[in-house]
Amino acid sequence: MQQAANSSALLALGREVLLPVYRQRELILQRGKGARLWDNEGRDYVDFGAGIAVCSLGHCNPELNAALIEQAGKLWHTSNVFYSEPPLRLAQELVAASRFAERAFLCNSGAEANEAAIKLVRKWASAQGRAPEQRTIITFHGSFHGRTLATVTATAQPKYQYGYEPLPGGFRYVDFNDIPALDAAMAAGDVAAVMLEPVQGESGVIPAAAGYLQAVRALCDRHAALLVLDEIQAGMGRTGSLFAHWQDAVVPDIVTLAKALGGGFPTGALLAGPKVAQVMQFGAHGTTFGGNPLAAAVARVALRTLASDDIVANVQRQAHALREGLAAINADLGLFSEVRGRGLMLGAVLTPDYAGKASAMLDHAAEHGLLLLQAGPDVLRFVPALNISDAEVADGLARLRVALAAFVAS
Ligand SMILES: Cc1ncc(COP(=O)(O)O)c(C=O)c1O
Repeated sequence: MQQAANSSALLALGREVLLPVYRQRELILQRGKGARLWDNEGRDYVDFGAGIAVCSLGHCNPELNAALIEQAGKLWHTSNVFYSEPPLRLAQELVAASRFAERAFLCNSGAEANEAAIKLVRKWASAQGRAPEQRTIITFHGSFHGRTLATVTATAQPKYQYGYEPLPGGFRYVDFNDIPALDAAMAAGDVAAVMLEPVQGESGVIPAAAGYLQAVRALCDRHAALLVLDEIQAGMGRTGSLFAHWQDAVVPDIVTLAKALGGGFPTGALLAGPKVAQVMQFGAHGTTFGGNPLAAAVARVALRTLASDDIVANVQRQAHALREGLAAINADLGLFSEVRGRGLMLGAVLTPDYAGKASAMLDHAAEHGLLLLQAGPDVLRFVPALNISDAEVADGLARLRVALAAFVAS
């Protein structure tokens, strides 16, 4: 009873002290292990959301814990005006793993990585003598690149921009997966870069069509523009390869990472290929916390593990199990028009009868011991830990079935 009182007091506190920009579910999470979480009341949950595709090696992963604790006993923070070994090694390992980059910029979040990418594109174009109006960046309807003013402007979704005008200039929006539209949008010759997600996450888990990224790369080459890939959600093994774009056989100029890179410790990175690796010189950009030794020590272990064959194999295995399980649930309940995505980044698209009901389904899921995400109002999003076990997937699917049956009956 005492614990229950604590939870309701904490929920009330959350409503009182936090800027109300989220609608948190009515529970207080207390601890986690693997793909399982427990709340203050001792109820357990299977976690199919992993903190929005962040805890890719599960909660309280022992190796990440060990790296964090070891580093915490040595050195927490230096700022970037001094070197320490963990960020140097992380940058070296990211560059080597990327197969294209020459240099890395370490930062703290996805928005910060994309902000750096936008600035790098502009600096590159400026260094070539292009006037400001010749430095347009193309992004795509349905994209999501972050919440800073520049990244929310890159995010071509009015709902994230409304009320924040005036927005920074120099962005142009094009339909995703539409090559003729991109071709037309680049015709004026004023485009410095095309920036996109290999799988659009927030707007409904929409993968780039087969051959699309290659066609985008070809247009970038034809128009002397950079290709920037935002792999903040799709990268770090989630789609079945360490970098999502490996499956599309393209070489980008810039890649941004965050989320899974730190396994739950806030961190981000920009990887710069040969055309742009030397563009930003002393004083051109910076961050106090980026490359923090604690974050870097954890990210090194996360990177090594996420790049392993075991993780790639598990992503394929569990993606198959999830798809089969969702198909079986759908055969009984008829809720989804399709399940789309790549690897363990899956979206179950609700049929028109259930359009707009994703949030209500998530409430039912939580009541039945499953933490799930949505991607817009019409899509259930599955982004579990990449080392999730057979038993955790089976348990999560069983809970989902009961929750969705209860939703349908409600
Ligand atoms: C593709 C993509 N880019 C950028 C971001 C922004 O990352 P952050 O919330 O760490 O700033 C997100 C977050 O969901 C994302 O999915």
